[in-house]
Amino acid sequence: MNKTTLLLTLTLSLSAGLAFRAVAEGDKKEESLIGQVMKDHFKGDTSDIKKATKGELSKDEATKLLAALKSLSPAKPSKGDEASWKEKTAALVLAGEKLEKGDADAGAAVKAAANCKACHDVHREKK
Ligand code: HEC
Repeated sequence: MNKTTLLLTLTLSLSAGLAFRAVAEGDKKEESLIGQVMKDHFKGDTSDIKKATKGELSKDEATKLLAALKSLSPAKPSKGDEASWKEKTAALVLAGEKLEKGDADAGAAVKAAANCKACHDVHREKK
């Protein structure tokens, strides 16, 4: 191998490596979006979701929660099929819209749509 060929080979493998990393990081971003929404709005007794089921969420909080719920649908969980994900996240968005409008059955709708275990069993990677 002469010097030019060596250099070319090195350059090519380097850019292939970088491209691969970019793709891998793109995936990671999608995943952490879901994780972030979980941490910011789902997790714990004082979370937006919990408060929503008890009818304790303010209009402002409901607006923010709805935006977060809407961001879930186009994200890709690392597990489970797409149809199931779309269905579950669409139910969450519907419930979030009821919340924002102040519908009387909003709390119940959120409770039904935000079934932690039902979704985690299908879509959350076991660690
Ligand atoms: C529509 C599906 C869905 C529902 C409903 C859901 N989750 Fe999740 N949750 C996920 C997925 C997918 C992950 C894995 C996220 C990742 O890391 O990619 C996750 C991860 C989490 C995490 C870990 C976040 C992190 O990155 O540290 C917590 C905490 C969590 N969920 C709490 C809850 C709670 C509490 C509820 C119910 C009130 C709930 N989730 C309902 C899909 C859902």
